[in-house]
Amino acid sequence: MKVKNLRLINFRNYKSLDIDFYDGFNYIVGDNAKGKTNLIEAIYALSFAKSFRASQNEEMINKDALFATINATITSGELSKEIEIQFRKEGKKVSLNKKPVNKLSGLIDVINVLSFIPKDTSLLKDSPRLRRNYLNQTISKFDKSYLFLLISYEKLLKERNDALKSINLNLNLIDVLTHQIVKLSKEIYLTRKRFISDLNKLLPGVYAKISSSEENLSIKYKAFIDDEEKYEEKALKIFTDNLNNDIKRKVTTVGVQKEDFEMYLGDRNLALYGSQGENRLSVITLKLSPYFLVKDEDKLPVIILDDVLSELDKTREKNLIDFLKNLNQVFITNTKKSEFCEENYFICGENTIKKEQ
Ligand SMILES: Nc1ncnc2c1ncn2[C@@H]1O[C@H](COP(=O)(O)OP(=O)(O)O)[C@@H](O)[C@H]1O
Ligand SMILES: [Mg+2]
Repeated sequence: MKVKNLRLINFRNYKSLDIDFYDGFNYIVGDNAKGKTNLIEAIYALSFAKSFRASQNEEMINKDALFATINATITSGELSKEIEIQFRKEGKKVSLNKKPVNKLSGLIDVINVLSFIPKDTSLLKDSPRLRRNYLNQTISKFDKSYLFLLISYEKLLKERNDALKSINLNLNLIDVLTHQIVKLSKEIYLTRKRFISDLNKLLPGVYAKISSSEENLSIKYKAFIDDEEKYEEKALKIFTDNLNNDIKRKVTTVGVQKEDFEMYLGDRNLALYGSQGENRLSVITLKLSPYFLVKDEDKLPVIILDDVLSELDKTREKNLIDFLKNLNQVFITNTKKSEFCEENYFICGENTIKKEQ
C-alpha cells in the first residue's frame, strides 16, 4: 500500500494542497509550526478516519471553514483506490471510490498505517489503557475477526455492567452474561498471546538494527488468566469470587478489559529502569515491528514518524534512516535535513508544502 497523492481542503492550516509522494522515503522538513505534523496527521487519518491527537473533528477543520476534506489515491500493487474523508463539526463522512463506507474497519484493508509520534515515548510509563489501545488497534489492523471479537466483548460487558446497576438485580442474567464473557475472553486472550509471541520473535532483530545494541527486547503479556487449558474454569472462579465486589461497585472489576503488558530490555523492566533514550528506541521498535508480520508485498504498511530524529544521536539517526529506507513507504518529519539522507525532501513553508527540486 502506498499513498501516491494527497489532496487537502481546509484541513488544519492547509486551505488547499495537492501533492504527489515518493514510493519509498519521504522526508518532510520545516521550521516549527509550519504544518509538518498536520500533514502526517492527514495521512494517519486515512486508515482509521481518526486523528492521533485531535479529540474532536472540529480541531482538524481550518478555523475559517465549515468542513475539511482529505482525498487520497492509494495503490496496492496494480490496484488504485480513492479515499475521501470529510470532517464536519457534527461528524464525518467516508467514501471509497466515491461510494460511502459505513464500517470504518473497511479502510484498514485499503491502507494500514504504523506510526510513531513523540508522545509514544512515554507509552511504557503511561496508563495501561494506552498500551491496551495500542495492542487492540494493532491486532485489529492485522486480524479483522479480532476487531469483531472486541466489539462483541464491549457489548456484553456493557450489558453486564447495566445489569449490575439495575435496582432489581437479576443474578440469572448476570450469570448468563458472565459465561458469554468468559468464552469471548479466552479468544481475545489467545489472539493477544499469539500476536505478542509473533512480535517477540521480531523485536530483538529490529531493536539491534536501530539501537546498535544486542540486548534482548521483549514484551511480557500480563494476562487476566494465563492458562489455556483451564481458562474457563479459572475465569469463572474469579468472576464468582468478585461478584459481590462487582455488585457493590456496580461495574465489572475483572477481565481482559483490564489487561496490560510490560517491555523488558534483558531483564530490566523499561517502565521502571529504562532511560528516556531506551524507552524511545524500544517503543519505535514496538510500533514498527508489526510491519514484518505482513507477508503480501502489496499490503505492506505505510510508516509515519513525527519529530523523532531530533531526539537521536548521530549513530541512531543513521541507523534509523538506513532501516527506514528499506521499507515500503515512509513519512518522516524534522526541523532540519539529515546528513544521512540525500534526496526525497519536501519543504514545509507558510501553509503549503513542496517537493524539493
Ligand atoms: N484547525 C486549524 N486551523 C488553522 N490552523 C491550524 C489548525 N490547527 C492547527 N493549526 C496551525 O497549524 C500550524 C502547524 O502545526 P503543526 O503541523 O503541528 O506544526 P509543525 O510543523 O511544528 O509540526 C500551527 O501554527 C497551528 O496553529
Ligand atoms: Mg510537529
